[in-house]
Amino acid sequence: MERIKILDKSFVPFISKEEISSRIAEVGAMINKDYEGKQVLLIAILNGSFVFAADLFRTLTIDAAISFVKLASYKGTTSTGNVITAIGMEERLNDRHIIIVEDIIDTGKTLSAFMPEIYQRDPASVKIATFLSKPDALQYKDIKADYVAFEIENKFVVGYGLDYDGYGRNIPSLMVLE
Ligand code: IMP
Ligand code: MG
Repeated sequence: MERIKILDKSFVPFISKEEISSRIAEVGAMINKDYEGKQVLLIAILNGSFVFAADLFRTLTIDAAISFVKLASYKGTTSTGNVITAIGMEERLNDRHIIIVEDIIDTGKTLSAFMPEIYQRDPASVKIATFLSKPDALQYKDIKADYVAFEIENKFVVGYGLDYDGYGRNIPSLMVLE
């Protein structure tokens, strides 16, 4: 795919769909090995992770269930700042092996706010799988992904579920801001 325009910005090819699918097969193989004989529950965080979650999920050969949550952040009226609320967390987590699925860990703020909600429900174990991580952008150092498909530079990307202002999620490969 050549240069594309989304709204007012131009994006150029970055990671091809073939590279993405072979890397996701590798990540899936690691998960199958690490959780052999166990049952896992993937919790994918909407909107961005739905494409990665769908592909990763289908590489799993272990007993795997999946559920989706959407996080809404509100600007707090107090000095505590943003509050994150999980919509759709009706799943029972206690004694289950949980894998959180994210599209990208950028500053780590989203997961840093969300993870306590998970731990509070007494899971047997919790790991994080992310399609992308930007190590140079990480500010919340308590957040560490266990499975990372690609570590990338601190550049803005779209495609494979990631958006620019709501658009570009349907691009099958990853594109980077020109
Ligand atoms: P964090 O809370 O700073 O880790 O950022 C998480 C969210 O920022 C992601 O779930 C994305 O929605 C958004 N984000 C961060 N970097 C990018 C990018 O390069 N492209 C598209 N969205 C991004
Ligand atoms: Mg997102």
